[in-house]
Amino acid sequence: MPDIAWLNGEFTSLAAAKVSINDRGYVFADGIYEVICTREGRPFLMEAHLRRFENSAAGLNLPLPDNYRDWPDIIAAGLEKAGYPETMIYIQMTRGVMPRRHDVPHPLTPQVVMTFRPKPRVDPAALASGQAAITVEEIRWSHCFLKTIALLPNVLMKQQARDQGCYEAIFVADDGEVHEGTAANVFFVRDGILYTPELGNYLLPGITRQYIIDQAPAIGLQVVSKRCLLPEMLAADEVFVTSTTVDAMPIVKIDNQPIGDGKPGPVTRKVAALFQ
Ligand code: PDD
Repeated sequence: MPDIAWLNGEFTSLAAAKVSINDRGYVFADGIYEVICTREGRPFLMEAHLRRFENSAAGLNLPLPDNYRDWPDIIAAGLEKAGYPETMIYIQMTRGVMPRRHDVPHPLTPQVVMTFRPKPRVDPAALASGQAAITVEEIRWSHCFLKTIALLPNVLMKQQARDQGCYEAIFVADDGEVHEGTAANVFFVRDGILYTPELGNYLLPGITRQYIIDQAPAIGLQVVSKRCLLPEMLAADEVFVTSTTVDAMPIVKIDNQPIGDGKPGPVTRKVAALFQ
């Protein structure tokens, strides 16, 4: 089964889905997105993802399309057509196709594309051994709570991590406040308690982050969401990063310093088990 796309109301093969070079996503990165994965074939936490999408749309003053209410049905149809055991659904909405100018003519028709591809497999060896991260300067704008497609700082910093043989880059402000990874939220463990940076301008409200916060009491864990500083994270017993595509990935080294004993720890394993 080829990967498929849903573009402005119609399913096509992914290869056949084309958008204009005048799309404001292409020209200005003027758009938002969501990534939803299935679990046992069903979209996991879809309602929460769609609520966040609505919030991102409102933040960019983007109208939701008329068919927005039908999206759960469209997603279900896409999953059935794609037929993968587990699917990654990517949804992108831009301000639409119009000649390039910075201000926005009205009315406008947002352009929506969804793609349905196999959920990327997380390498079990990477989970078992844990991964290394670097910390990087916070060079992003102050609206990181909106899930926009303007991801150039994230892209550049992720590549900087990769060039140094590391898995992830973690944005840290000048004053030492830990924000998040390029495509993941951060948690650390100290004396059995989980800590995670509190929501704010420099953090995406991760759906996986919130799921862990919600589920933690049921597995006997306390989570503290607060302003977190780099020295606390470096001195932690365990660190892990979370996202829809990876769930919870242990981070065992940051800026070449081992975290705890340099191996994935028991609390990270307990959290990861929530997703199995
Ligand atoms: N990214 N922070 C950033 C900057 C992210 O891009 C993501 C996810 C997260 C984690 O959010 P969630 O748990 O809702 O996936 C945090 C997606 C997966 C991506 O860009 O592919």
